[in-house]
Amino acid sequence: MSVLKDNIDLKRLPRHIAIIMDGNGRWAQEKGQDRLFGHFHGVESVRDIVEGCAELGIGYLTLYAFSTENWDRPAYEVTGLMELLVETIRKEVETLNKNNIRLHVIGDMTMLPEYASLELKEALELTAANTGLNLVMALSYSSRWELTEAVRSLAREVNAGKLDPESITQDTLEQYLSTKDFPDPELMIRTSGEYRISNFLLYQLAYAELYFTSVRWPDFRKQDLYEAILDFQGRERRFGKTSAQIQQDLMAPGSTF
Ligand code: IPE
Ligand code: IPE
Ligand code: MG
Repeated sequence: MSVLKDNIDLKRLPRHIAIIMDGNGRWAQEKGQDRLFGHFHGVESVRDIVEGCAELGIGYLTLYAFSTENWDRPAYEVTGLMELLVETIRKEVETLNKNNIRLHVIGDMTMLPEYASLELKEALELTAANTGLNLVMALSYSSRWELTEAVRSLAREVNAGKLDPESITQDTLEQYLSTKDFPDPELMIRTSGEYRISNFLLYQLAYAELYFTSVRWPDFRKQDLYEAILDFQGRERRFGKTSAQIQQDLMAPGSTF
């Protein structure tokens, strides 16, 4: 039994956890290995964390797997990552279905090689009816790409006379983001000791609690996830209000927090 897990308040779980899975390359290089060795081992962490989230009953898990900027890496690394992605999806679809996990993808799929986008499309269809954990893979994703796409679509609608610019609200904008079907992440974890967002969910993370750990992604396991959740549960989320107001809300009848 895990002591850390037992301390988690299951009534106050983050609905949506987003993770920047960083540090694969350094993990491998520290072992005198090629960077791809790190990506390969990073898949084991993905498996463990997806399982951990499903066991806890987390609603949404978004994993930043490949950014728009990552296309600029050496060709051999990009190709290696694409092949690893396809192979992993092929191997894991059965497990996803067994655990009632639904796969989603956000990002610019037009950039992916055809064999990869076909494999993904199939996995999305095969898991579409699952009702448990929503696993969102951010692939060829960047926030600036997403926001630019949203603006372009909005402009098109206005141009076609289908949308009145004066009627645009935050809700309207959110409908044009690739995350329109998901609630905003409440907890964002970045591994490997970097303290930055790297173009990840800039709009959606507005009020997320940020958690940074020096653990490299291939070493990140359920215990590390529990630590992050416990840290999250110890924070006071104020959303611009004062602490006194938040405390008052907590005392209100019917409040679960
Ligand atoms: C994260 O690990 C995986 C991807 C970005 C695809 P990195 O490959 O960025 O590893 P480091 O940061 O160089 O150690
Ligand atoms: C962010 O990591 C992207 C992913 C984890 C997929 P990077 O390693 O690409 O980010 P930077 O370059 O350190 O900001
Ligand atoms: Mg990195």
